[in-house]
Formats: sequence, C-alpha cells, structure tokens
Amino acid sequence: MAKKRQYNDLSEKKAAKIAAPKLVYQPPMPRRYNPPIGLIGCGGISSSHLAAYKQMGLNIVAMCDLIEERAESRRKEFFPDAQVYTDYKQLLKRDDIEVVDIATHPQDRVYLIPAALKARKHVLSQKPFVLDLNLGQKFADLAEKMGVTLAVNQNGRWSPHWSWIRNAIAKGKVGDVQAVHMNCHWSHDWIATTPFNRVHHIVLYDYAIHWFDAMASFMPGNEAKIVMANLSYARKQVAKPPLLGQAMIEFENGLGSLVFDGAVEFAKNDNGFITGTKGTLQYDGPNISDHRVKMTTRRGMVEPELEGAWFRQGFMGSMGELLCAIEKKCTPLNNPIDNLRGLAICFAAVVSAQTGKPQIVGKVRKAPLDTCMVADE
Ligand SMILES: NC(=O)c1ccc[n+]([C@@H]2O[C@H](COP(=O)([O-])OP(=O)(O)OC[C@H]3O[C@@H](n4cnc5c(N)ncnc54)[C@H](O)[C@@H]3O)[C@@H](O)[C@H]2O)c1
Repeated sequence: MAKKRQYNDLSEKKAAKIAAPKLVYQPPMPRRYNPPIGLIGCGGISSSHLAAYKQMGLNIVAMCDLIEERAESRRKEFFPDAQVYTDYKQLLKRDDIEVVDIATHPQDRVYLIPAALKARKHVLSQKPFVLDLNLGQKFADLAEKMGVTLAVNQNGRWSPHWSWIRNAIAKGKVGDVQAVHMNCHWSHDWIATTPFNRVHHIVLYDYAIHWFDAMASFMPGNEAKIVMANLSYARKQVAKPPLLGQAMIEFENGLGSLVFDGAVEFAKNDNGFITGTKGTLQYDGPNISDHRVKMTTRRGMVEPELEGAWFRQGFMGSMGELLCAIEKKCTPLNNPIDNLRGLAICFAAVVSAQTGKPQIVGKVRKAPLDTCMVADE
C-alpha cells in the first residue's frame, strides 16, 4: 500500500482581525483654491478627466483640441460655459487661467508643456510624462524657474487599493518595504480593434507604467537598480503585440516583480503582495476597479472597507494633489522627479525585453519609440 505522503504543516495561526487604522486614502481636495482651469487635448481619456473634475466642483473654463468637434462635444457634456479653442496659444494667453491640464500624447506634450510653463501656468501632464528622462528633468527645472508647479497624472496612485497601501507604508505600518510582487491576470485582447494594437510594447510600456510607478512609490528612498524583462505571445491571442510580459526589478534594498498575463480567459485576477520588516500588505480583485486590501502585522489582520474605483478616484487624486500643493505651496506627491523613477524602470524593462539582457535603471534615457509603435497597416 502506498505510503500516505507527509506534508509539513505550513498553515500559520490565523491572525486575529483587528480594526483598520484611519488612513487618508481618498483623493486630496484643496480647502479653498478653485482656480480657472484649461484643458488641452479632448480625446478619449479626457472624458475621465472631466467627469472627475465635475464631481470635484472644479472650474474648467477652456477646452482646446486641434479637432474642434472634440472640444465642442466635451464642452457640451461637462462644462457648457467653457470656451472652446483649436489653438492652444490662445488658451495660454488667457490671464485668468492658472492651471492647464494637458491630455495629449507625449509627442505633443514636448512643446505644449514648456509653452504652458513659460506662460506661468501650473501644469498637470498626462502619462507617460515624457519619452526622454533628460527632457523630464528639463521640464522640472523649467517649472521651478518659472515659479509654477508641474505634476503628472499618474492616476493609479489614487486608485483606492494602491492609495491605502501607499499611505500605510508612509505611516510606517509595515516597516521598511523589502519586496513588491504584482500580478495582473486578465485579457488584454480588447486592444485588437483599437489603435493600441499598433503599440508593440503595450504591456511593458503603455500599461505597466502605472504598475512600475506604484512599485516605486511603495519603495520610497529605495532606488531600482537592475531590470530583467521578457515578452511572449499567447497562443490564442488576437491582438498584434505580445500580451504576456514580466519584469524582475532589483532595488537597493529589496526586490520587485511584475507579471502581466494579458491573455487570461478564466479566473481573472489582479493581486499584489508587499512585504515589509514589520508586516505584509496584500491586494486582490477580479479587475483594476475592485480590490480587497489586507494588512497583517504582529497586532493582527486588518481588512479596510475601501470606497471608490481607479477611474474616478484616480483622476480626482492627481488633479486634487496638484491643487493642494499649489494652495499649500509645497511639492506634490506626483511631482515630475518622482515620476521619472517609475519611467526609468519602464524604459529599462522595454530595452531588456528587446535585448534579452538585464538593464541598469537610469541608463536607458529614452523610450525606444521605434519599437513601441509599429506602422499602420
Ligand atoms: N489611465 C490613464 O491615465 C490613461 C488612459 C488612457 C490614455 N492615457 C494617456 O492619455 C494621453 C491621451 O490619450 P487619448 O487616448 O485621450 O488620446 P487621443 O488620441 O484620443 O486624444 C489626444 C487628443 O489630443 C489632441 N491634440 C494633439 N495635439 C494637440 C494640440 N497641439 N492642441 C490641442 N489638442 C491636441 C488630439 O487632436 C486628440 O484629440 C496619452 O498619453 C495616453 O497614454 C492615460
């Protein structure tokens, strides 16, 4: 008779459930500052910007797009009293506008960001902030010289689960973070019928930027050193770019990993496991809008009830953080220098996947555009 296999008993004593600490994870809102804001770029994502700003009671007074109907349609839907422009220079000429939200692609922001900063406007830039780390530094320097605040719309930071986790880390609840492991298992095949189908590095470049940024934000003062990444095609995928990607990141003190499993049909899941010297943080959910968060420490286990979802709270958070920083005359959390930490990991991951070799973070100064985009067929 076969001997019954013996397993080590790995089941740990269940941690007692205790009350969650009160952490401020909801989008920051300025106390009184509600300046006239202009939006440049009224394409696909601008509806998420405007819906969030409407909910916050912000004052959008101008909208600009090269294609007038786009700006006109957003004006009608969200802020009917706003003025529509097709020339951003006309919008920047308005003295009453103090803040400019730039929601174009990064190639257009190369001239739009400096123009807005030189016009002494505070600026919120969509992600990816820049395609060249040196240019990002130049924009940060220019903002400082002009005495205005520049911030990046890396909205995932205010997604309720990541915001709660980041705040728990900042408050020292889990000690020093030494490992961040993030896993996305879902289907990204929906891009097959969209312009994203032409972005070869859709996984590591366009999408994972939010994850690299979140990972860097969970490791404050702990810099990423080396990245090794891979890409592969899934057997049944319809989309053109490879939908399977992964990256392993070595930090000064610790490790990070990202698995992007973009061709999952069953049991879709988005999770993360973050370990610190004094505790563990976990998140888990079926998609990017719905997560449970758990923190386990010596004191017990907490499961906070979180409200909101990435696409509303995220967009409220990135603009709210900029407005609060202007009001309080301090540096926003989504400042350009901090954003470049995540971008540097991203660019290194893309080149690592291309070359099959590990890359030193910070050495890859430019996103390799030639391989990010493939020509229209
Ligand atoms: N989670 C997120 O935050 C998220 C999601 C989707 C897209 N994005 C980012 O948002 C940016 C825009 O994406 P999109 O999907 O809205 O693109 P889009 O192509 O739909 O819209 C871009 C718009 O900018 C306009 N534009 C370009 N140059 C201009 C100029 N000089 N003056 C005025 N308007 C100009 C275009 O006419 C177009 O309408 C990209 O960087 C993208 O990566 C972010």
